Amino acid sequence: MAPLKVTKVLCIGAGYVGGPTCAVIALKCPHITVTIADINKARIDAWNSLDFNLPIYEPGLEDVVRQCRGRNLFFSTDVVKGIKEADLIFVSVNTPTKKSGVGAGFAADLNYVELATRQIAEVATTSKIVVEKSTVPCRTAESMRTILEANSKPNCRFDILSNPEFLAEGTAISDLFNPDRVLIGSLQTTEGKDACASLAAIYANWVPKENILTVGLWSSELSKLAANAMLAQRISSVNALSAICEATGANIDEVAHAVGYDSRMGPKFLKASVGFGGSCFQKDILNLVYLSESLHLPEVASYWRQVVEMNEYQKRRFSKRVVDTLFNTITGKQITVLGFAFKADTGDTRESAAITLIRDFLSERAFVNVYDPKVEESQIWYDLAEACPTMTLDNIKKQVKIHKSALEASKNAEAVVIATEWKEFKEIDWAEVYKHMKKPAFVFDGRLLVDADALSKIGFKVATIGRPSI
Ligand SMILES: NC(=O)c1ccc[n+]([C@@H]2O[C@H](COP(=O)([O-])OP(=O)(O)OC[C@H]3O[C@@H](n4cnc5c(N)ncnc54)[C@H](O)[C@@H]3O)[C@@H](O)[C@H]2O)c1
Repeated sequence: MAPLKVTKVLCIGAGYVGGPTCAVIALKCPHITVTIADINKARIDAWNSLDFNLPIYEPGLEDVVRQCRGRNLFFSTDVVKGIKEADLIFVSVNTPTKKSGVGAGFAADLNYVELATRQIAEVATTSKIVVEKSTVPCRTAESMRTILEANSKPNCRFDILSNPEFLAEGTAISDLFNPDRVLIGSLQTTEGKDACASLAAIYANWVPKENILTVGLWSSELSKLAANAMLAQRISSVNALSAICEATGANIDEVAHAVGYDSRMGPKFLKASVGFGGSCFQKDILNLVYLSESLHLPEVASYWRQVVEMNEYQKRRFSKRVVDTLFNTITGKQITVLGFAFKADTGDTRESAAITLIRDFLSERAFVNVYDPKVEESQIWYDLAEACPTMTLDNIKKQVKIHKSALEASKNAEAVVIATEWKEFKEIDWAEVYKHMKKPAFVFDGRLLVDADALSKIGFKVATIGRPSI
């Protein structure tokens, strides 16, 4: 039999991955009807909102949705209908770190993947290609296959593929338009290879064939964890060096530039910072740690664990630098935190370094002023309440104020801390900010974003990651 020509795609999960990924499939494949379904009604309502007030912010995303929504792209809470109609189903649900039970704090919580898989088995009356898009531990596809086969109806076969997503938030749309590679893992059987060809044919509508890599199922699953672990490792390596720079007078930007000039290294992803965040790096490394431990490879586990520990150290080290520099106490002082998202060009706050910094400042009883151009106020309160379980939200609100601009947030502050590399923070009228701050006025640049010398000329005392203070 020739590989199935897919005409109806369902994506289960309308989040940061499912939404942009399948919207781009709809844009690039007008002959395919794409439905993105989610149990979260508020999220689906936002995807369907008349004013395109989408639930996630990504540059270029709104334009894609405007072109396809109602044409061949639909958002729905009706997962059952979607399953029945689709030839190919992406499972793009969340896989957070487990909070309790075996593997708590390390292993991925596969409950959402399992529930979605069981629902596919229960509802499907025709054969489907089921694509694991969520990031999952090795051999999850095997478990999905077992569940599907044990619950399937006669004449209903399921082929499982692994197709991990490599997009980065903030650049999701350009990453999806021009991916470095698309990776598809399948069983190496005739049926598995046919299913793989069906999915590859979708991507071939816009991705050059040589960039579509096909491998075995488990290589595909492990490649995603490996890619994230190695990217995060690069950040932790450069951050470890930034501590040496601060102590010696070397400049981390110069060191990273020199190192990155080596063609074996390349210049990307060598920026020191207050630490990596986001929903993936930490979770995926911890997953790899758990996997290594389960495979009785303790040395491998502790190697990868150190990448996360270095990240925690970097955040701690930065908050401590703020306290030390402000004459060893920030109690009762006004500290302004610019940026709450985990990186620029996203409204996502999961594992954001800003949360850890603010938690540390609150524990020192400082007053914190926050400004972020994209993060909703309700999200900031939600994250701070979660990060500070010993404080009531009312008490948090007595110590934290959320502002509408960087300038407003900086008034009467003793220090401004840059936690996210939003471009607009580079373009602030820093002389104006300086005028309205208490003196001496400090800037702590956790993202190597601003021109430290120019700020110093204005009168600021500037502390930058990976450089001695000026
Ligand atoms: N965010 C990233 O940058 C990124 C990049 C690559 C891979 N990933 C991986 O992709 C997966 C999804 O990540 P995300 O950031 O999109 O998560 P997310 O939390 O933004 O979205 C997941 C969505 O799935 C929905 N969902 C859960 N169970 C469901 C069910 N049974 N039926 C219908 N909807 C259901 C949730 O309501 C939620 O809206 C994760 O495994 C993640 O590790 C994320």
